[in-house]
Amino acid sequence: MTLIEARGVDFSYGKRLTLEGIDLSVGAGDSVGIVGESGAGKSTLLALLLGLAAPSRGSVLFEGAPLQLRDRSLMRRFRGSVQAVFQDPYSSLDPRQRVDRIVAEPLESLGLAHGPGARSRVAEALESVGLPADAGTRYPHEFS
Ligand SMILES: Nc1ncnc2c1ncn2[C@@H]1O[C@H](COP(=O)(O)OP(=O)(O)OP(=O)(O)O)[C@@H](O)[C@H]1O
Ligand SMILES: [Mg+2]
Repeated sequence: MTLIEARGVDFSYGKRLTLEGIDLSVGAGDSVGIVGESGAGKSTLLALLLGLAAPSRGSVLFEGAPLQLRDRSLMRRFRGSVQAVFQDPYSSLDPRQRVDRIVAEPLESLGLAHGPGARSRVAEALESVGLPADAGTRYPHEFS
């Protein structure tokens, strides 16, 4: 099944055409690499696929339906399913927050879990990636 798709996507910063005619399809279980020299537009394409910006032409689809950045409830559902995991934990994780808080915050803000429910979802998430039960009580710098 196709999860995310770009169809005939163009994107311009002002008058400068950065992406032209991008067609891409990502199915369940796929790993897709995007390769190109610096400035080729990889990060720009990712921003479009994450719904952070809208194409100048063409569309980005999630599960077959075009993303509509102005449709708040649609975008909320989209963000509950599609998230970026950044490469450098030190620039993406708040060093002053414990890991359980960092993991719980998006669950709460997306309405996926609250209170005790959030606590057990956090424990499940940590366990699912092989982290010990006490991992949530630690800070990002305490991990290798
Ligand atoms: N906010 C912006 N405003 C104007 N131009 C931008 C902006 N962001 C990126 N660009 C330009 O768009 C082009 C594509 O940039 P982008 O960052 O998507 O490339 P990239 O492939 O991710 O590069 P890198 O490998 O260096 O990360 C570049 O020419 C860049 O200068
Ligand atoms: Mg980049």
